Amino acid sequence: MKLYNFNELLSVAKARDFKAIGSFNLHCLEMLPAFFKAARDTHSPLMIQISTGTAEYLGYKLLVDSVRSLAESEQVPTCLHLDHCSDIASIVTAIDAGFSSVMYDGSHLEMDENIVNTRKVIDIARQRNVSVEAELGAIGGSEDGKAVAEEDITFTTVEDAKRFVDETGVDMLAVSVGTVHGMYTGKAHIQHQRLAEITEATQTPLVLHGGTGVSDEDMRRAVAGGIEKVNVGTEMNVQWVGRCMQTFEKGKVNDSVRKFLIPANNAVTQVLMEKIGLFK
Ligand code: 13P
Repeated sequence: MKLYNFNELLSVAKARDFKAIGSFNLHCLEMLPAFFKAARDTHSPLMIQISTGTAEYLGYKLLVDSVRSLAESEQVPTCLHLDHCSDIASIVTAIDAGFSSVMYDGSHLEMDENIVNTRKVIDIARQRNVSVEAELGAIGGSEDGKAVAEEDITFTTVEDAKRFVDETGVDMLAVSVGTVHGMYTGKAHIQHQRLAEITEATQTPLVLHGGTGVSDEDMRRAVAGGIEKVNVGTEMNVQWVGRCMQTFEKGKVNDSVRKFLIPANNAVTQVLMEKIGLFK
């Protein structure tokens, strides 16, 4: 089965009565079957996103081959997306390997440079039927281990978002509206009014980063207000590592390693199923 780009996957999601797609960060290959189990059990399409750190750790080709193989055997429409990447060469590596969607993150640049670079990526990606996400404004927290300080958070303005979308024609736009990457405890404060105005002005699928730590109620409101891709990363990592810490501590060295990992993988399936349930 081919991998779907974001626009194709969104059409499948809408046909199955989902308002938004959850895009889930895969932290290690062991988690992959657990992602597919959640998608199969909820009859949901699946979007898997990979940080450049994880892509380099596992290998772009291994990721593409494994995801394609499971999409085929599980019959789940699947999109494989490169998360936050500000290096165009790595984006080309991902596209060449077979990723079906990429994010060019130029949010740290001046707007004009962000537009120029995003256009470059779109020119490369469109020829290969690959969708492109870009980011405007700066989301706080930690991205692939790199911290964005609180004073560097800038919320996306309606005017900038409109100009950016008009001048790039990007497929989906990540906006800074109050969520924070990696925040596991505490509550994000989403600026719903700002989100509604950006949605109205851009008429383009918007992406909510930092899905971990967003309350169910806020998540539902954000999706009703125009968010069509929701990124969740930290929560699966927390569940997986937490379960492994418990099982490894209780186990013996000659226990089959799968006994330690199965509870961790089940916890990951559970996180995805709960989040996917919010997008109906
Ligand atoms: P969380 O880790 O906060 O869920 O955010 C994930 C994300 O936005 C990845 O781009």
